[in-house]
Formats: sequence, C-alpha cells, structure tokens
Amino acid sequence: MKTLGIAIVGCGGITLQNHLPGLALCAETKVVALCDPNPAALEQAARATGVTVTSPRWEEIVVRDDVDAVIIATPNVFHPPIALGAIANGKHVLSEKPLAMNAADARAMAEAGDKANVRHMTAFTYRFVPAMRYLGHLIAQGDLGEPYHFRSCRLQDWGKRGLGWRQVKKMAGSGELGDMLSHRIDFAHHLVGPMRRLVAQTKIMVPERGGAPSDLDDWVAMIAEFESGASGVLESSKLARGRNEGARSLDYVELNGSEATFEFTTGKWNELQYGKGDGPGLAPLPVPREFWVWPGSPRDPSVGDPLIAFRQDQAFEFIDAIRNQRPCVPSFHDGARAQAVMDAGHRSSELQAWVEV
Ligand SMILES: NC(=O)c1ccc[n+]([C@@H]2O[C@H](COP(=O)([O-])OP(=O)(O)OC[C@H]3O[C@@H](n4cnc5c(N)ncnc54)[C@H](O)[C@@H]3O)[C@@H](O)[C@H]2O)c1
Repeated sequence: MKTLGIAIVGCGGITLQNHLPGLALCAETKVVALCDPNPAALEQAARATGVTVTSPRWEEIVVRDDVDAVIIATPNVFHPPIALGAIANGKHVLSEKPLAMNAADARAMAEAGDKANVRHMTAFTYRFVPAMRYLGHLIAQGDLGEPYHFRSCRLQDWGKRGLGWRQVKKMAGSGELGDMLSHRIDFAHHLVGPMRRLVAQTKIMVPERGGAPSDLDDWVAMIAEFESGASGVLESSKLARGRNEGARSLDYVELNGSEATFEFTTGKWNELQYGKGDGPGLAPLPVPREFWVWPGSPRDPSVGDPLIAFRQDQAFEFIDAIRNQRPCVPSFHDGARAQAVMDAGHRSSELQAWVEV
C-alpha cells in the first residue's frame, strides 16, 4: 500500500485536537507538510508531528509532489481559495466547515472536486457520533415512518470572551449560524432530506468581545419546511449562561414521525431515547456495538473520552475514501447544501420573511 502524504493548512485548535490524532490512527498515512502564517502555531504543530516541511503560504504546500491530500483548517474565508488551489493540483481535500462564505463558492468547490476526480469531504464531525449514525440507520430502514418534525437545540455558554477571527464577518462569514447550526442543518438533511423554505432570525447580543467589535450572530433560530413536507425547528446559542462550552453542553435532536419518536443528544454518544405509537413514552435504546466506530476504523472505542474520540473517525473516512476511490461521507456537496440553507437563513433574517432555499 502506498503511503499517503498529507498536508495540513491551518495548524490551530481543531488541527491539534482532531486532525492530527485522527490521522495518527490511519495506516500508511503520513503528515508531510504544514502551513500556517502564525509562526507559533506552525512551530507547535511541527513539534507535535516532527514534520520539517513548513510554510506560511498554502500556495507553496499544495503544489508539492509528496502531498496527496490537503486538510484545510483555517478561518472560513480561506477554505475556497485553498481548496480550489489544492484541487487544481490534483490533491484530495478535506475542508473544515462551514465550507465557504456562501453557497455559490461552496458549489464551485464541489464541482471542481468532481471535475478533477479527487475525493472531497466536509468536516461535519458530528455525523461520526455513534448514536447519530445508528439513528440514520434506523430512519433509513423505516423505523420513524413518515417524518413529521425535526427539532434541534445547541446551547453553549461562550460568555463575552473574545473569539478572534470568529467574531469578524469578513473572516468567518457568519457566527452561530455557520459555526454551530451548520452541523445541525447537516443532521437535518441527513435524517429528513433537503429543506425547501425557511424563516430565520439571527441576533448579535454581544457586539463587543475581548475589547474588539463583534459583527456576527451569537444566536440563531429557524423554522423550516422540508421538501417532504416535514417541519423543522432549529435553535443555537453561544449565550446559554451556565451551560458550559464543552462537549457536554446541550446538543439535542428529536424526530417525530408517523411510527415513532427518536431523541439524540451528543452527550449520550451510545444511547438514543425511543418511543413508539401507543407505548409508555420514551425509553433508552442502546446503540449496538457495531456502531461504536465508523465501519473499518481502527479506533478502539474504549480509549479516550468518548465525547471527543469519535471525531477521529473522520480522518479514517477521508483516507479510506481516497484508498477505495469512492465519494467521502459527507462530501463537499453536503457542505454546499448546508451552505444554501445558511445563505437562506441570513436572507430571511435580513428580510424578516420566509424565503426559498
Ligand atoms: N468540525 C468541527 O467540529 C470544528 C470544530 C472547531 C473548528 N472547526 C473549523 O475549523 C476551522 C479552524 O478553526 P480552529 O478552531 O482550529 O481555529 P484556530 O483559530 O484555532 O486555527 C486556525 C489556524 O489557521 C491559521 N491560518 C489563518 N490564515 C491562514 C492561511 N491563510 N493559511 C493557513 N493557515 C491560516 C491561523 O494562524 C490558525 O493557526 C474553522 O473553519 C472552524 O469553523 C470545525
């Protein structure tokens, strides 16, 4: 098996927390180059990996012959140019979410990836929660029946602290909508199908963070209608005081269908709540062991904090798709579909009206 050479562009938080540990589990896969304009971040990642090929400029990295694939983990504004640059050089690309600053750019990334016949993947990491994957399986086999309602609620406490590039519209594109709700929009698409129209509101509750202006939403809510006719209600906040910021803060999804109700919270990684018609109400439904890791992943589910470790299966999925020359799950197309809903959310909030997706 040929060793795959990986370049990492953007060596901040998510690279250290997730991409590097995930890649370390992948056989015959080697990080060969690192890019970050911040010398301290570059130095830290170089120390963690032992990689000596480094550059502050992604243009120097994506052209290298020893790079087969590129992982993009920069502020959102840089995802499209780096992805297009990497694809133009025939590299496979895993990009962080939100994929782009708008749906047109996200679609262009997906089309470029298809045309170049490279693998492309959006880092919708919560698809890899075992309970989420099991829920997808149960719904696909018809256990929900006809979907009536999708409901999600993500509540965190980020307080008033400074968020760096995340509080600057020209760097991030959107606040809570792109940062946190994008994952839940992807859940909704994955479990219920495409959204047709929606009404949304975003709010900047804290206009100054860490002594600098913040021009991005801290809170977002959306009512949506799916193409199937099902309804969706989604809410996400950075200002749920006292709920903490970490993986254990509320991340709740509920689906009600003609046959049953399923409830999922990320905090319960290997358990759903389930109730069926005329039953006594919701009761725990354990996630079978075969769903505890992504198919084929070498990760041992008993190692590490299960609320963090599932994320490492994402790197396995990317590498496995490259090896087997098949589409990644989720792909840039999934990223672009979520981005179209985000664009509609911003439009609706500005117009104070229902809009088509
Ligand atoms: N999938 C998830 O669950 C998840 C979780 C956290 C972050 N993210 C996403 O990952 C991305 C990075 O977030 P983070 O929390 O690691 O941010 P971060 O600020 O910790 O790291 C970003 C890094 O990118 C570097 N950078 C800036 N401009 C660059 C450029 N032009 N080329 C190369 N590097 C550049 C910065 O110096 C910094 O080191 C964002 O898109 C974010 O939305 C996703």
